[in-house]
This record gives sequence, C-alpha cells and structure tokens, in this order.
Amino acid sequence: MAQRLENKVALITGAAMGMGRQHALHMAREGAAVVVSDVADDAGREVVEEIGQSGGRAIYCHLDVVDEAQWGQVIDAGRQAFGRIDILVNNAGVLLFKAIQDTETVEWERVLDINLKGVFLGCKLILPAMREAGGGAIINVSSIYGLVGAPGAAAYQASKGAVRLLTKSTAVDYAPFGIRVNSVHPGVIDTPMTREVLADEQMQQQILQGTLLGRPAQPEEVARAVVFLASDEASYMTGSELVVDGGYTTV
Ligand SMILES: NC(=O)c1ccc[n+]([C@@H]2O[C@H](COP(=O)([O-])OP(=O)(O)OC[C@H]3O[C@@H](n4cnc5c(N)ncnc54)[C@H](O)[C@@H]3O)[C@@H](O)[C@H]2O)c1
Repeated sequence: MAQRLENKVALITGAAMGMGRQHALHMAREGAAVVVSDVADDAGREVVEEIGQSGGRAIYCHLDVVDEAQWGQVIDAGRQAFGRIDILVNNAGVLLFKAIQDTETVEWERVLDINLKGVFLGCKLILPAMREAGGGAIINVSSIYGLVGAPGAAAYQASKGAVRLLTKSTAVDYAPFGIRVNSVHPGVIDTPMTREVLADEQMQQQILQGTLLGRPAQPEEVARAVVFLASDEASYMTGSELVVDGGYTTV
C-alpha cells in the first residue's frame, strides 16, 4: 500500500512527548522524513531512535519555539539533512488553568509566547523555504479552547483563539504559492499535559462534561487527523479548522 507522506519532509515542534510524539511516529510510518524538535532533548532523541528502529528517517534538533535564531538553525538542519521541508506542525504548547484576575503578567507572557509567538515564528520562517520548494502544508495546533469559552483559562484561550485566526490569515496570503495552512482543534486528550487533571476524578468529570463520546482521546486519534491534513488527501483544504473533540463543541 502506498504511504501517504512518501518523499515528504516534516518538521514537528514539541515532538518529544504527548501528541507531538505521535505526530512524528505516524508521519514517519507514512513515509515522511521527520525533524523531531523539542526542548526536552533526551525524550526527543528517544523518538528519533524509535523511528529509526522501525525503518524510518528522522533527526533530532533542540528548538525552543520562542527563539527566532533557533528556528533558523533547525530549518537549515532539516534542509541539509533531507533537502527541503514540506510540512510544519506547530504543536508545542503549554497549558495554564487560571482566570484572568489570577493570571500574573509573566504567566500571560509565557503562555502567549510559547503558544502564539512560537506559531508566528514557525510560519514566518518556514514560508520562504516552502515558497522556494513550490508548496507545503502547515498545521497549527489550536484547541477546543480556541473555539468556545471555558472556565479559568484566560491566557490559554487567548493564545489558542489567536492561533485559529493567524492560521486563516496565513492561508489567505500563501494560497497563491501552493501552501495550505490549517488548524487542528483537539478536545480532551490523554497526554502529559492533562495527566494531572485527568487523574483527579472530580476534575475529570468536569472536563469531560460535554464530551459527547464521554472519554478523553488517545493522542494517536489526533495524529491521524494531522497526517490527513499534511497529506495530499487534504489537497483542497486550507484555512479550515479540523475539530477532533469527541463532540465537545457540538452542543
Ligand atoms: N492534551 C490536550 O488535551 C490538548 C487539547 C487541545 C490542544 N492541545 C494542544 O496540543 C499541543 C500538544 O499538547 P500535548 O497535550 O501533547 O502537550 P504535552 O505537554 O504532553 O507536550 C508538549 C510538548 O511541547 C514541548 N514544549 C513545551 N514548551 C516548549 C517550547 N517552548 N519549545 C518547544 N517545545 C516545547 C514539551 O517539552 C512537550 O514535549 C499543545 O499545543 C496543546 O496546547 C492539547
């Protein structure tokens, strides 16, 4: 059976654990060469090892998404290793459960820096390389919290809502160059980010209230959607928001 990302090169941020790790493993399985990037270097290198052991191709690069110079170095390293970059998954993110009056300015800045400025820098710096290559696909990871309101997550919601429209703005400007830009909106996913919340029964009940399917998702259930958006199967999709939320935003 043909692999869906044959001959493609993907750069994924926050790929050492959680959903990013699954994006990397799934993309490699579908034939992509993968640039695994993260700030958690040991865990990131393990992902590269795992891909190698299954016969895939990957390199690891340290990348703090708020650091513009590092973005440049990682894109160069990816192009040097694999020739070009066709796919960027802006996945790295941090969660903060705090209402606006409890949010310190430094906390606000950290969440907005990683979740929004990181996406801005990734798009800005990859676009010239994609234009040169004649096209590409960018997937920006937002959230259900980028679509609807929820209690006590002011900075997180502001960052994820902004990612949704930054995606559409970039899609408009770069469609003429064959670059598709879409956002993904996961619901409650079982990853290191949510482990603490999901371990608390009361919190779990609260957070799963409204999820029609009544359970958190496994990260691979989102990875399959991300692979789809990255592949030519999504050739007519740009500026769209793919919701993977077990029905959370339906009612
Ligand atoms: N887990 C959920 O329920 C859920 C729901 C909706 C959206 N999301 C979003 O999905 C994405 C992945 O979430 P996850 O649950 O896998 O999180 P996670 O915490 O399990 O993993 C996040 C990864 O990002 C890395 N990271 C953190 N700061 C970074 C930085 N400055 N530069 C580079 N890497 C950095 C971490 O080291 C980690 O490997 C995030 O953008 C998150 O906001 C998560």
